[in-house]
Amino acid sequence: MIDLNEHTITDEVIRRWDSCTDARFKQIMAGLIRHLHDFAREVKLTEAEWMAGIQFLTKVGHKCDDLRQEFILLSDTLGLSQLVVAQNHSRPPGATEQTVFGPFWVEGAPRMPHGADIANGAVGDPCHFRITVTDLQGRPVPDATVDIWHADSEGGYDVQAPGWTMEHAKMRAMFQTDAGGGVHFWSVIPASYPVPTDGPVGDMLRASSRHPMRPGHLHIMAQKPGYDTLITHVYVNGDEYLGSDAVFGVRRSCIGDYMRHAPGPAPDGTTMERPFYTCATTVRLAPA
Ligand code: BEZ
Ligand code: FE
Repeated sequence: MIDLNEHTITDEVIRRWDSCTDARFKQIMAGLIRHLHDFAREVKLTEAEWMAGIQFLTKVGHKCDDLRQEFILLSDTLGLSQLVVAQNHSRPPGATEQTVFGPFWVEGAPRMPHGADIANGAVGDPCHFRITVTDLQGRPVPDATVDIWHADSEGGYDVQAPGWTMEHAKMRAMFQTDAGGGVHFWSVIPASYPVPTDGPVGDMLRASSRHPMRPGHLHIMAQKPGYDTLITHVYVNGDEYLGSDAVFGVRRSCIGDYMRHAPGPAPDGTTMERPFYTCATTVRLAPA
């Protein structure tokens, strides 16, 4: 085919995949090409704009290394990550909803006993968390692994400190549920925080007059053989960014009930000499 114009080129490009034997790859490429071409036609993309897009994606690639994944951040801030999560985890009614994973989980967090203080010196008002893992019938799921990670009361994750290693873990831990499906621990109340803005995604947000904030939240990953692994958040009720999360991850059902208390007795029987929070939540696992 020669003499292709802006209308006939799309079918010809897709035809070049006719000999592809991987049916799924072929389907994905055909859809990608069709939508890319339609996009360029719809907005009447100029050559200068196309080049600006290429340069932007080049900067996104250059920003990536072992600890920084700017492409995932781009996907997150374009809503693509949450879209993919939503369409791949349509769980039965009653199951806790899946949310975006985010970049701050690190494999191999310390295993902690129930009741431990995982803040490890992080700043913020203490918060006592009680998480109960159940199945869809509300029966406790014992021996499930519950991985926890969250930001401090200034919105920072431990991994963001220069030279961080797991020996300096704060606000991250792994627990095993007890016979009642429960885990409980102390940490600090998580604050809202900006997604990283020192790269091209930050430039994109600023050029769009979009704020980079995520509402405060605790991350939970709950796993047990026989159940669909759950990755979810417990958002801080009342947070000002619940309605405008920079990565579109808020589910109404994942907003927690963080309660502030005056100094006095805490749920684990200790007496707190300063104000503190409690957050009790149940996550319901669907069968695998
Ligand atoms: C997070 O919640 O940790 C997160 C998710 C997406 C982008 C940046 C951070
Ligand atoms: Fe987070």
